[in-house]
Amino acid sequence: MSVLNGLVAVLIILVSVIYWYLKKSFSYWQSRNIPCNEPLIPYGNIKGLGKIISFVHFTQTYYTQFKGTSKFCGIYFFTRPIALLLDLDLIKHILVKDFAIFNDRSFYYNEKDDPLSAHLVALDGKKWKEVRSKLTPTFSSGKMKYMFPTITAIGDRLIDYLNDANKLNDVLEMKNILARFTMDVIGNCAFGIECNTLKDIDNDFYRMGRMAIQKPRHNPRISFLLNDYKRLARFLGIKTIRDEVSTFFIDVVRNTIGYREKNNIQRNDFMDLLIKLKNENNDGDVSKGLTVNQIAAQSFLFFVAGYETSSTTMLFTLYELALNQDVQKKVRHEIQNAMRKHGEFTYEMMMDIPYLEQTIKETLRKYPPFTTLRRTAQRDYKVADSDIVIEKGMSVVVPVFAIHNDPDYYENPEIYNPDRFSDEEMKKRHPMTWLAFGEGPRNCIALRFGMMQTRIGLITLLSNFEFSTCSQTPIPMIFSSSPIVLSPKDGVYFNVKPIKTEEI
Ligand code: HEM
Repeated sequence: MSVLNGLVAVLIILVSVIYWYLKKSFSYWQSRNIPCNEPLIPYGNIKGLGKIISFVHFTQTYYTQFKGTSKFCGIYFFTRPIALLLDLDLIKHILVKDFAIFNDRSFYYNEKDDPLSAHLVALDGKKWKEVRSKLTPTFSSGKMKYMFPTITAIGDRLIDYLNDANKLNDVLEMKNILARFTMDVIGNCAFGIECNTLKDIDNDFYRMGRMAIQKPRHNPRISFLLNDYKRLARFLGIKTIRDEVSTFFIDVVRNTIGYREKNNIQRNDFMDLLIKLKNENNDGDVSKGLTVNQIAAQSFLFFVAGYETSSTTMLFTLYELALNQDVQKKVRHEIQNAMRKHGEFTYEMMMDIPYLEQTIKETLRKYPPFTTLRRTAQRDYKVADSDIVIEKGMSVVVPVFAIHNDPDYYENPEIYNPDRFSDEEMKKRHPMTWLAFGEGPRNCIALRFGMMQTRIGLITLLSNFEFSTCSQTPIPMIFSSSPIVLSPKDGVYFNVKPIKTEEI
């Protein structure tokens, strides 16, 4: 009887402690007078996230509900409080002015057991700073010029592919085709490999690249937990990248490095620069050089960060141009003018089409590939003109998609209008109303490269084909619930008509 009493007492204490812990955790925002929604045990506010509710819909709902009531609102990711920023000036402070306090994203990575996970997006502190400054020269405009012909050659293959496919069918599904185009580009520039996924449907690069993005090792909720319990997860040796994906990419990098060094091959691509960094020192100290695993991690990141972001940007542009034929005609006209002016398709010609740039920016406004940005406070941070403190360790989220589609900043945001990005119009807006490439010292390192491959793809496509909607085009667009890159749920079909040379 006394044993039973003891057990009951222990149980009561345990339940009381859990109750006290949950009560305390779930009153974090209320006790600080920060607007939030009632949490639900044990999920906090994220029940159904990634399954029933997409991440885009989730953040937009919070943004719309609380904007104007406070500089940020609170969300509980399980018991973890997270701040969703609602005020553009505060966003500017966090991303740019006070970057020293918000320089990390606090993502989980495990360099020892899962080397590919230790890439630039996840690295923190001194390591991030060292790797970022070493990789920055890889993306200079000089390097972009050097890579330009490689990408236009892949563009030619894209046109050959479309011409062949178009002979069989007027209606083409472009999501898959464009993913293969950008995969060939990044495979070539980041790994120096002719993956040719446009021709070879079952290519390993294609399979592994898709797997890395579409079938992550853990579901989003486990990933949130890993971000919160990094030390424990590292101690337990938990990995985030699937073993077959890891083995494939590390082998490819090892073989490429071996082959280039043995045959003394220099191609002036990303891989070349990474090999030079390796040879500065390879004892694992990133302040000196990079190891093979560190090179593999960065190339892997270029691959996954680089192909889907740009392919969806091209895809959503074609989608909007198919819906807005007047804009399509205008972009094509500008491309043809630039072609006449420069005589051929050169780097300079590509950079001399302002309306194309406006079009891409408008696409990235409506469909930013990364719908949120994330930073973590390295110490307590007092929000200017208020008595609110963002505490050390707190993650803050910038709701990019919601800001880009806010009617207060973009009138009738659902309307596609590249004129919003003329120089005059851009000057009228707060700089934090367009965050497609992020902002501040931790913005997208490859902005130039991403824009270049998107420009090349679109110039090539629009010079050769007209795109219009067909009965299978998804109208309105339905997004996939994938939390990584904003993309259409299913394939996107277009009526594709070749342009005859005499029409140009
Ligand atoms: C249209 C194309 C692209 C878009 C819209 C895009 C967007 C972004 C965004 C929003 C971020 C986060 C920035 C922040 O937190 O402030 C980012 C980071 C990053 N992107 Fe891109 N990206 C694109 C293409 C690429 C390509 C082609 C590559 C590689 C070849 C790449 C490599 C990276 C890397 C390495 C980071 C992490 C930077 C750091 O933490 O220091 N991106 N990108």
